[in-house]
Amino acid sequence: MTYQNILSEVKDQILYLTINREQKLNALNKATLAELADAVAFAGQSDAVRGVLLTGAGEKAFVAGADISEFSGYNAEQGEALARNGQDNVFNAIENCPKPVVAAINGFALGGGLELAMACHIRIAADNAKLGLPETSLGLIPGYGGTQRLSLLVGRGRALEMIATADMISAERAEKMGLVNTVVPQAELIAAAENILNKIKLRAPLAVAAAIKAVNAAFASEVNGFDVEIQEFGKCFNTQDFKEGTTAFLEKRKPAFSNK
Ligand code: COA
Repeated sequence: MTYQNILSEVKDQILYLTINREQKLNALNKATLAELADAVAFAGQSDAVRGVLLTGAGEKAFVAGADISEFSGYNAEQGEALARNGQDNVFNAIENCPKPVVAAINGFALGGGLELAMACHIRIAADNAKLGLPETSLGLIPGYGGTQRLSLLVGRGRALEMIATADMISAERAEKMGLVNTVVPQAELIAAAENILNKIKLRAPLAVAAAIKAVNAAFASEVNGFDVEIQEFGKCFNTQDFKEGTTAFLEKRKPAFSNK
């Protein structure tokens, strides 16, 4: 698939995905979502990719939401399909990606943009970022998982305050609430995200994937997270990387993991 709306480049085992609709503040239209779905599936499958850095083009916006011009004429059925397809193909796919996905939030992260950042495993915000779920000001609610993920990240009271007031919050406040992991000066944003991914790259890839699965299970109602942890822990013992990691420790050297 050739991409018109996102930039995609693998460098040093990191897949850099940049939503590239700067004139529209990187709003998520259907074409952008389809390209993101394709890129995330590639990241999950490719041995050349150890992690994903997701950001928005320009200095003003990460993503200013779903593209309002595309759904303004929708009825209930179309709205439901829009949310379901987006959640299945993009937002849940990112959350379940076996490679860590880090959002580098470089400006407005609103509506679907904040939902996109919340679907990522780790969020780093630039100090100029503004975050919010303004859907109730459009007569809507968040539809790409925002009501669920925001509640899990910051608690019910704060989530409902943000959603019902439609207020934007600063990066600093988002960090205090646990909505983003860290805030850094804008000029240092990409380096800060790379720093995390470069550390993760030193760890055993299958163990990182297992950790993502087990942590996600803490928030999934259909499985028992403790059981998932037990199973994933057990599976690690069958990997070559477990042998390598423990042998390297005992031999007092750095491990060389093979993703096997
Ligand atoms: N959907 C479609 N287009 C959008 C958009 C969105 N979510 N967010 C911004 N844009 C477009 C604007 O329509 C404008 O396009 P134009 O130049 O062709 O008119 C362009 O991006 C720049 O946005 P603009 O509103 O002129 O910038 P601003 O600096 O005055 O305001 C925001 C910035 C983020 C406050 C404002 O764009 C905004 O409120 N966007 C919508 C946020 C939202 O409700 N998101 C949730 C959607 S579910």
